[in-house]
Amino acid sequence: MNKLVINGGTKLKGNVFISGAKNAAVAILPATLLIKGVCTINNLPNISDVKIICNILKELGAKITWNNEHEITIDTSSISCTTAPLDMTSKFRASYYLIGSMLGRCGEIEVGLPGGCNLGARPIDQHIKGFEALGAKVELNQGKILAKAKKLIGTSIYMDVVSVGATINIMLASVFAEGTTTIDNAAKEPHIVDVANFLNTMGADIRGAGTDVIKINGVKSLKSSGSYTVVPDQIEAGTFMLAAVATKGDIIIHNCIPEHLDCITAKIIEIGGNVEDLGDSIRVWCNKRPNKATVKTLPYPGFPTDMQPQMGVVLSIADGTSIINESIWESRFQYTEELNKMGACITAQGKTAIFEGVKELFGAPVYASDLRAGAALIIAGLVANGQTELYNIEHIDRGYENIEEKFKALGANIQRIS
Ligand code: EPU
Repeated sequence: MNKLVINGGTKLKGNVFISGAKNAAVAILPATLLIKGVCTINNLPNISDVKIICNILKELGAKITWNNEHEITIDTSSISCTTAPLDMTSKFRASYYLIGSMLGRCGEIEVGLPGGCNLGARPIDQHIKGFEALGAKVELNQGKILAKAKKLIGTSIYMDVVSVGATINIMLASVFAEGTTTIDNAAKEPHIVDVANFLNTMGADIRGAGTDVIKINGVKSLKSSGSYTVVPDQIEAGTFMLAAVATKGDIIIHNCIPEHLDCITAKIIEIGGNVEDLGDSIRVWCNKRPNKATVKTLPYPGFPTDMQPQMGVVLSIADGTSIINESIWESRFQYTEELNKMGACITAQGKTAIFEGVKELFGAPVYASDLRAGAALIIAGLVANGQTELYNIEHIDRGYENIEEKFKALGANIQRIS
């Protein structure tokens, strides 16, 4: 079993380079199925979720060449199969994007019900509602989803909840739908804009991505060749921002888009940290114990749920009592039990957690329950006195590229032990 061993107490200082966005990459790769041709995708993060989706695409008939560890050329000219391997698809969340892409490409797909981080119930009713509105038939049977459509016809779809996955999936399914599809109450995250930009670069006609109304005018085909660069990862950048605050460090975070980080920047300033926008990089530093705060997670541009555990670590050592309200996922406070093992004083009940700030944390053996919980516990280990052993780090490898190397370059004492 791999683990990370962290000796805490170092103020992080220096430069870190942000990889391409996981949640954009895992949607853009399935979106290449809509191209009957060859395209090159670069700035892909070198993470296990990207490798899994590439393997699934290969099973469906795509030919993939890795030009380097961040760039692939993918040829989707011939797709030989409409059944995605169940063992692979049911392991991770973004396999649901195969439904929208394959409905558009082949009018048919069988795929395992999506897996991914255990954050409580993760329904896909809004995806199904969208596919059905476009004219598809969707059946759920024994852990599998079978979606079929003779023809997809554009229509208006009002999302009952703001959903990243459903917004992207309906966008994918409607690229070739006849007429215009309108998605109302759409999600606005940077990765939604990135997927729309990718599809438009390849010849789709998608307008309004990044607002809450997206219109997709169906086109007959996409270009048969092109290239695209994935947007920088907002959450990876935010993770390093909060690591700088928690360790009273001073970090310049390169290759990020500061506007995507506004919601995190605002909270950092509120709790007493400093942020300087340097164009395509951002400097974050903090000289004092953070102030208490109240945080509520919301869809973009609100404070992201994917930054909630990392913020929880900062608030666990803040001066005073803080409250976090998690409004997206029902079970995203599992990390608080691990933090309490390290000396934090957190009471979590339902969607609310109360953080009585403590002066210091202590190293302990702890377990990552999911991807962002894992990242948060690394930050906790970096802050703590003594040694922390962090287990279940395969969750972290799903979404962060070379995380321990990036922290080491900032002066952290962190080792991966196999
Ligand atoms: N929801 C429904 N019905 C649906 C879809 C969603 O009720 O059909 C609800 C969910 O239960 C949740 C809310 O709507 O309460 C938002 O869910 P959303 O669909 O936006 O989440 P997702 O697409 O499954 C993506 C990210 C998550 C991130 C959320 C929210 C990917 C692959 N995953 O999930 O990322 O937390 O959006 O921003 O893009 C992570 O990266 O660690 C991660 C969990």
